[in-house]
Formats: sequence, C-alpha cells, structure tokens
Amino acid sequence: MEPELPRKRIAVLASGRGSNFQAVIDAITAGDIPAICVRLVTDNPGAYAIERAESAGIPVTTVDFAKFPSKTAYEEALLAAMQDCRADLFVLAGYMRILGPEIVHEFSGRMINIHPALLPAFAGLHAQWQALEYGVKVAGCTVHIVDEGVDTGPIVIQRCVPVLPDDDEAMLADRILAEEHKALPLAVKLFCEDRLEVTDRRVRIR
Ligand code: GAR
Repeated sequence: MEPELPRKRIAVLASGRGSNFQAVIDAITAGDIPAICVRLVTDNPGAYAIERAESAGIPVTTVDFAKFPSKTAYEEALLAAMQDCRADLFVLAGYMRILGPEIVHEFSGRMINIHPALLPAFAGLHAQWQALEYGVKVAGCTVHIVDEGVDTGPIVIQRCVPVLPDDDEAMLADRILAEEHKALPLAVKLFCEDRLEVTDRRVRIR
C-alpha cells in the first residue's frame, strides 16, 4: 500500500457564488486531494461562498473591501489575513480583484487562479463575453500560477469547450464552468501532490 501523502494546508479566496470553491471542497471530501481547507478569505460579506464554507465547517475571514479607505489599506489587511492562514497554497476561485505586488511577491509560486478563457486570449473581466464578441469557435478555462500581471502567469491546466452558433454569454459561461469544476480541483491536487515543476513559464506535470 502507498504511504499516505502529508496533507497540505490550502486557503481559498472567493468573491461571489463560490461554485469553484465547492468543487474543491467536494474533491477534498472525496479524498481526491491530500489537503485540508483551512480558510475562506473573501472581500465580499454577501458572497454565497461564505454559506458554502459554513456548511463545510471551514472558517471564514471577511476583509470587506468597502470598509477600507484605500486599496492600499485593503491590501494590507488582506495580506495579514492571508499570512494568518499559514497556507501552503492559496486558490483564487472567483476572486474578482487584482492582487497587489506585495501579496503576489509574498506568496510567489503558491497561488493559483482559475480564469474562464483560454489564456492568453481574453484576460481580465467578462472573458466569456469577450470570446463571443471575438467570434472564436473554441473557448475554455485556464488554471495558472499567479504572477504580477493580470492572468499572465504560467499555465497549469486548460480545458476547452465548443462555442455553438446560438450561444449567449450565460450559455457559454455555463459550459465553461462545468470544465472549471474539473480543472481547478485537478490543479489543486497536482500542487498538493508536489507534481508541478515550473521552469520559466512552463509548467511540467510529473
Ligand atoms: C468563474 O467563472 C471564474 O472562472 C471567474 O469567475 C467565476 C466565479 O464563479 N473568475 C474570473 O473571471 C477571474 N478573472 P464561482 O464563484 O461560481 O466559482
């Protein structure tokens, strides 16, 4: 029998619905990921992700963006909250703000993000709408390591879906989301199993 891997501590950052967060919780509960989720950190006190965390018994830290006088003050509080997690990995699962350079530097190589497009196409907000407007025939999602840019870090996993002739933004977003729910738990699993090797911007899966 294979010896059990030591479990990594992961923390999740989410701003809203939290369906990707749920996919990670479910994969941990099923025993697919050798990790414990130690915290949900959110910038939004109304995020449905908070209810998901509470149902799973995961502690929540809310750093309410609206309560801070500046982005700098918010980022200081967020950095402190993240340090307090003592996490091996931070998973950005629908965290809808751009992280400042201090945070990116502090947790360099230990943060991954899910984006609903095949990067480097359609970075930033409303990626599914951007894809439809451009007229692409294939769309998808990307899990990448977070660097200083917006959605520019080394790519861990991508999954594709077709764009169908009558798609609207919601239909395409739903089709992509189903793939996100496979890609993100898999990327977390690979990280937690120490199977990701990053050289320059290439990620090799061992
Ligand atoms: C997901 O589609 C995720 O890829 C996207 O927000 C959604 C969150 O859904 N993230 C971004 O666009 C980040 N730039 P969820 O809250 O149900 O996981």
